[in-house]
Amino acid sequence: MSDDKANLERAREAFRSVTYPGFPRDIVTLGMIAGLELLDGRVRVNLRLPGGRTEPPDDLRRDMEAALAPLGLACEIRTAAPAASPPAGASRAAPTPEADLLPEVRAVLAVSSAKGGVGKSTVSTNLACAFAAAGFATGLLDADVYGPSLPILMGTEERPKAAGGNQFHPVVRHGVKCISMGLFLDEKSPVIWRGPMVAGLLQQFLRDCVWGALDVLVIDLPPGTGDTQLTLAQQVRLDGALLVTTPQEVAVRDVVRGLRMFAQVQVPLLGVVENMSHFRCPACGAEEALFGHGGGERVAEASGLPLLARVPVEPDVRAHGDAGEPIVCAAPDSEAARIFHELATTVGERIGLGAARTSAPHA
Ligand SMILES: Nc1ncnc2c1ncn2[C@@H]1O[C@H](COP(=O)(O)OP(=O)(O)O)[C@@H](O)[C@H]1O
Ligand SMILES: [Mg+2]
Repeated sequence: MSDDKANLERAREAFRSVTYPGFPRDIVTLGMIAGLELLDGRVRVNLRLPGGRTEPPDDLRRDMEAALAPLGLACEIRTAAPAASPPAGASRAAPTPEADLLPEVRAVLAVSSAKGGVGKSTVSTNLACAFAAAGFATGLLDADVYGPSLPILMGTEERPKAAGGNQFHPVVRHGVKCISMGLFLDEKSPVIWRGPMVAGLLQQFLRDCVWGALDVLVIDLPPGTGDTQLTLAQQVRLDGALLVTTPQEVAVRDVVRGLRMFAQVQVPLLGVVENMSHFRCPACGAEEALFGHGGGERVAEASGLPLLARVPVEPDVRAHGDAGEPIVCAAPDSEAARIFHELATTVGERIGLGAARTSAPHA
């Protein structure tokens, strides 16, 4: 290998220690390095920045320079043209988040999962109820139009009331303003949606729903980390996202896919929630790992993402959910409820929720 080539390899390796502000993985893994050249002891880096940015953040510039300093190399940063700038794996240019769709919402949190049935809706509803219980004005948007479970889990079949024009009011339940396709459907309606319809529908839920002033809006995204989810994530300014998995489903590959997807829309993936992670014996209190140990930890270690919570398998989580009373409301002293409250606190800190601004509505 020539010296130049070896130096470029060393530079690339050094950049593996540099993270993009707000993203938990390094800029090499996120595909932000479009090219490296060596010119008279300088490494010229062609950077693809997320969100169509043309200037690297100051922190990033400083960290990249610091990474090369021990190699005796200077760092010159160029940015790739924004139109061709999404990180690796992107299929289109980065979006312009339509922040003005939700001018009165302080923070938007997306709850995602690689697969269905892992408890994404259970986590979404309990988190929303925990935020509301902590005094935050909270909304819950069920964007999973293929499997809307909000009506069952929150225990409401109330139809959203018209608010003039195309607008409608969310339904308030357990102190949370709720909207779901399930609230508009009757038993005879077909639930066959094509991609573009789904995107249009979510936009309506954001634009035409009279959310009013909210501290936090929780969005229960459809399962998967593909194009549909990416489109949905592009419809709104998201402040952070969670990835829900179970110990059996936990796969580094899925987490990295989720990371890439959210990186494309400049959304920080805050961490992993391992659901149905263990079972606590009601008789002796011992913790039993039904599906093996350490799945979440392994993923956290490999992906650099924090494991934010481990929610036990608890028959009451399912029973209260099926009865329309999330466990956070029905059994606030249970272990699962405590874990959801802690998760809400952790997540609230990370998305900059601070103190409650408005008092939650009641119903
Ligand atoms: N921690 C848990 N303990 C027991 N049952 C759970 C738990 N989390 C979810 N469930 C149950 O598993 C099923 C799937 O959960 P759900 O939240 O609907 O998943 P998803 O939205 O990912 O498809 C539901 O019947 C739910 O009650
Ligand atoms: Mg669901």
